[in-house]
Amino acid sequence: MKIKTKLLDRGGEVEAYFLFEKEKFPSEVKKLEKYSKQEKFKGKEGETFTFNDGNKKIIICGLGDKKEFILDDLRKAVALAFNYANGKKAKSLCIAPPKIKDLKGAFVVIGEAVTLSTYKFDQFKTKKKDDEEELTVKEILLKEGKRKELENALNEGVIKADAQNYASELSELPANVLTPLEFAKRSKEIAREKSLSIKVLDKKELKKKKMNALLAVSEGSSQPPVMIVLEYNKNKKNLPLYAIAGKGVTFDSGGLNLKPWGSMDFMKYDKTGACEVLAVMKGVAELKLPIRVTAIIPLTENMPGASAQKPGDIIKAYNGKTIEVLNTDAEGRLILADALAYAAEKKPKAIIDVATLTGAASVCLGKHAIALLTNDDALAKTVEKAGIYTHEKVWRLPLWKEYSEMMKGELADIKNIGSDEGEGGTITAAAFLKEFIGKTKWIHLDIAAVDHVKNHPYLGTRASGKGTRLVIEILKRLSKK
Ligand code: BES
Ligand code: ZN
Ligand code: ZN
Repeated sequence: MKIKTKLLDRGGEVEAYFLFEKEKFPSEVKKLEKYSKQEKFKGKEGETFTFNDGNKKIIICGLGDKKEFILDDLRKAVALAFNYANGKKAKSLCIAPPKIKDLKGAFVVIGEAVTLSTYKFDQFKTKKKDDEEELTVKEILLKEGKRKELENALNEGVIKADAQNYASELSELPANVLTPLEFAKRSKEIAREKSLSIKVLDKKELKKKKMNALLAVSEGSSQPPVMIVLEYNKNKKNLPLYAIAGKGVTFDSGGLNLKPWGSMDFMKYDKTGACEVLAVMKGVAELKLPIRVTAIIPLTENMPGASAQKPGDIIKAYNGKTIEVLNTDAEGRLILADALAYAAEKKPKAIIDVATLTGAASVCLGKHAIALLTNDDALAKTVEKAGIYTHEKVWRLPLWKEYSEMMKGELADIKNIGSDEGEGGTITAAAFLKEFIGKTKWIHLDIAAVDHVKNHPYLGTRASGKGTRLVIEILKRLSKK
């Protein structure tokens, strides 16, 4: 999708305007106001008014009450206008941004909404959909001239949303296609394209480095594990360093603690954290953020093969701590243990990890929030604000020491599931991870509840990639501190 910014001389085949309740129609379409009244158009959220003006089509999208407006309302409205233009088989859509103070924010959002709603995953269909369902709109025109700042904002939105689409596409790939080795191959491609440096630690190197927690999870699978290390701005040592890590379980069967019927269906998505971290690296490089970033991506399947790890096994993680594996289905925290300990060694200013870690996240928060756990209050604020901005909202859960008590091992230092039958499961999982970060500032994002969306206004039904724009935005905000 090519997006052009251009001063509107009533250019597009379809023109879209955005109006709040009670707002007067802009001069360009003033004459339509009386028709909209006849049709009782009030400018409510989700409401649209359309009009054929010769061979030009106009759509006016309602944004609701101005006092309650959030930028995400605009993402939804832009997607409506875009779908309308496609439905009319238009080749171009001209967007007149709404009259809001944060015009820059509006342009980021327009770039995002257009990029996210044009995404399609049809690479496995041998017969592509009929022409009728194809997207016809190939050009988006914007009504706000060539102000450099707004063009940059639009571009930022496109980059972030492209990254989200990329994470979504990887996450949607089935486990027989996106194996750990295939993930490594694709990471190398991204590294080449974006001039990132890359190291792929294979099984032999993992053994040499004593990354035993990742190795233990991989034992039951015929697919070898890998740990990928990507670096952005590697040689610019004067820039502050941040580390990001993502859970990459390309399929989670539960291992010998096999998941029950139904619970395994969506477990190809258990690599979403890894996909997002790779996508964030692509986005950060395209935005040219003035920081250094190291990404650490542990990848494996969790299978119940003949040499699978067994409940009761005791392993020694990369940082030397011993772990009793009491449930092989709590495998994400094991592979992250090695990844986080490795990240902490590099002494970054902060570590961010992204993981589909616990089913308990959706029990606790439903599908509308990412669980945030962190050891730093200032970082919590940054993450919360970034989440509101990207509409990938987070909700903080506590990390009191009582939860760490619940993870103390009987025979080893710690165990991989909490005492008390899964109570506070999202928190105890984070309390486990905390054992591996030392004193580093750390943000943990449990995305288990949001890895997939259904009938979403601008994402549709797909692997959501939710968390990608959030992490890019967090890094952007940190790069300004
Ligand atoms: N991958 C799952 C978490 C998950 C569950 C993600 C549902 C998305 C949807 C994780 O590895 C897991 O199995 N966690 C267990 C932990 C338990 C054994 C302590 C869980 O959440 O049930
Ligand atoms: Zn599991
Ligand atoms: Zn898992």
